[in-house]
Amino acid sequence: MNSILVTGGAGFIGSNFVRMILSEHADCLVVNLDSLTYAGNLGNLEGFMDHPQHKFVKGDICDGAGVEKLIDEYKIDSIINFAAESHVDRSLVDPGIFIETNVKGTLALLKAALDKGIGRFLQVSTDEVYGSLGSEGMFTEDTPLSPNSPYSASKAGADHLVKAFGHSWGLEYNITRCSNNYGPYQFPEKMIPLMINNALADKELPVYGDGLYVRDWLYVYDHCTAIWKVLTEGKPGEIYNVGGNNEKTNLEVIGLILERLGKDSSLITYVKDRPGHDRRYAIDSSKMMSELGWAPTVTFEEGIVRTIDWYLENAKWLETIVSGEYEKYYDSMYSGR
Ligand SMILES: NC(=O)c1ccc[n+]([C@@H]2O[C@H](COP(=O)([O-])OP(=O)(O)OC[C@H]3O[C@@H](n4cnc5c(N)ncnc54)[C@H](O)[C@@H]3O)[C@@H](O)[C@H]2O)c1
Repeated sequence: MNSILVTGGAGFIGSNFVRMILSEHADCLVVNLDSLTYAGNLGNLEGFMDHPQHKFVKGDICDGAGVEKLIDEYKIDSIINFAAESHVDRSLVDPGIFIETNVKGTLALLKAALDKGIGRFLQVSTDEVYGSLGSEGMFTEDTPLSPNSPYSASKAGADHLVKAFGHSWGLEYNITRCSNNYGPYQFPEKMIPLMINNALADKELPVYGDGLYVRDWLYVYDHCTAIWKVLTEGKPGEIYNVGGNNEKTNLEVIGLILERLGKDSSLITYVKDRPGHDRRYAIDSSKMMSELGWAPTVTFEEGIVRTIDWYLENAKWLETIVSGEYEKYYDSMYSGR
C-alpha cells in the first residue's frame, strides 16, 4: 500500500484530492496534515473523516519534528504539499505569513523528506510564479519565474527551494504549476464562490478594475487527476504545467453565474483595482498531455454549472463558512471604491 502525506488536505484543492484518492485508489493510505487556518475546514472532508484509509492530523508543516514523526509512524513514502496561504489579496495586506507558511513551511517539509529518505516530493505550485502575460502567448515550463505579488513570490521561493534540494542532495521531486481552479468546497473569498454567494443574496458583485482580467480556469477534479498522474508517472526532477485551456475574462465568468442564477447584471459593481493586478494568465499543458497522457475532462461550461449547483445544494456549508470573521475581512477588502 502507498502511504502518502498530504498537507493542506482540509483546504479547497487538498480536500478534493483526498476525496478523489479515497474514492478511486483503494491501495493508498492518506495521512492528512492540516493546521486548520481560516481556509481549512473539516466540513470539506465530511463523509471521509472516518474512512479506514484516512488519518487526519491537526498540525503545522513548519513543525519539522512533528512531520518526521508522522513519516516514521505511517511509513510515508511520498509527500504532496498543498498547504499554503493561498489568497493574493491577503498577501497584499499581510505578506509575512505567506513567507512563514509557503517558504519556511516548505523548507521544513523538504528537510524532513530528505532526512527520512522520502521517495517523491510533489510541490503543488501555481502559474502565478511566471508573472503576467500580454494578449498573446502562454506560459511553458521554461518561462522564467517573474512573480508579481507576495503570494506568487512566496510560491516561487518554495519552487526554487524544492529544485535546490533535488539538485544539491538528490531529493526526488516534481513541481506542478496549475492555473486557476474552481469547483466544490472553495472558500468564498475566491472569485467564483464569492460571486455565487453574493448573487444568491442579491448583494453587489465587486469587480476589480475593468473586469477584463483573463484567467485560465480548470475544474478542481481535473487538477487532482493531474497531480495523481505526476505522482505516479512523472519523471523525477520534472516540472509540469497544468491548465484548462479555458481563458475567460472575469466579466465573462460573472455573466455565466448571473445567467444560471437568473440574476440581473445590475448587481455588478466596479471597485478599486488590486495593486499590481496581473492582466492575463494562460498555461501550456502540452507536456502533461504528451508525456503523461493527461487531459482535462470537464469543460468550463459544464464545470461552472456543476459548481453553481453544488453551492445551491450545500447552502449549509456556505452559511457555516461565511462567519463573522469572513464578513469583517470582506468589508475591509471591498469597502474602498
Ligand atoms: N486555488 C487555486 O486556484 C490554485 C491554483 C494553483 C495552485 N494552487 C496551490 O494549491 C494549493 C492549495 O490551494 P487551495 O486553493 O486549496 O488553498 P486553501 O487556502 O483552500 O487551502 C490551504 C490549506 O492549507 C492549510 N494550511 C495553511 N497553513 C498551514 C500550515 N502552516 N500547516 C498545515 N496546513 C496549513 C489550511 O488550513 C488549508 O486547509 C496551494 O499551495 C496553492 O498555492 C491553488
